[in-house]
Amino acid sequence: MIIAIDGPTAAGKGTLARSLADHFGFAYLDTGSIYRALASLVRESGLDPENQEEVTGLALKLSATDLQRNDLREEEVGQLASKIAVYPRVRQALLDFQRNFAETPPGEAKGAVLDGRDIGTVICPNADLKLYITASDDVRASRRHKELIDKGVAAIYAEILADLKARDQRDQSRSAAPSKPADDAIVLDTSGITAEAVLEKALGLVADLRC
Ligand code: DC
Repeated sequence: MIIAIDGPTAAGKGTLARSLADHFGFAYLDTGSIYRALASLVRESGLDPENQEEVTGLALKLSATDLQRNDLREEEVGQLASKIAVYPRVRQALLDFQRNFAETPPGEAKGAVLDGRDIGTVICPNADLKLYITASDDVRASRRHKELIDKGVAAIYAEILADLKARDQRDQSRSAAPSKPADDAIVLDTSGITAEAVLEKALGLVADLRC
């Protein structure tokens, strides 16, 4: 079984994807971490992020260990990930890894959960279940703000909100695999509901598939 979960930043898709994977013993791939790993490498190597050719070259050399880099959750890395994610050739270079993961999950898992922006539309158009997780700008910015404060990182709410809107705008308006719900995706708005309630809803949708 393949479960595709898409949606904008900080909508709760990672939490849901991880919980569903744990529940069913499926493999989980956070595809945002692939773009973040590439962004982190671009930053470290000093490559020009505007040079699609060079960024694609680096994407072709990306390895699974790069997904463990410790700066992946930084805001700056997220913004840079969104900028290099607009390049069609970079996306193409990263496509097979994601598709193979979904079709042949590691560890002989009986299914895979992938979250990102284009899982239901491009990576796994035949996924068994497609969810598009969203929440209001204010709720998403508040969640991200709290997450940073809890980690002891200084954060200004207004800046987080502005960054989040800029990233959404870029991710949704790019011509290559823009972030949007697949035609057959079920949209869940998580504003004002707990992560547990979202999981219950998703489990109900998986149960419906099995009937
Ligand atoms: O989900 P995230 O915030 O970790 O993703 C970081 C950026 O990577 C996001 O702003 C856009 C890009 N991305 C993408 O273009 N396609 C994906 N499947 C996942 C992420």
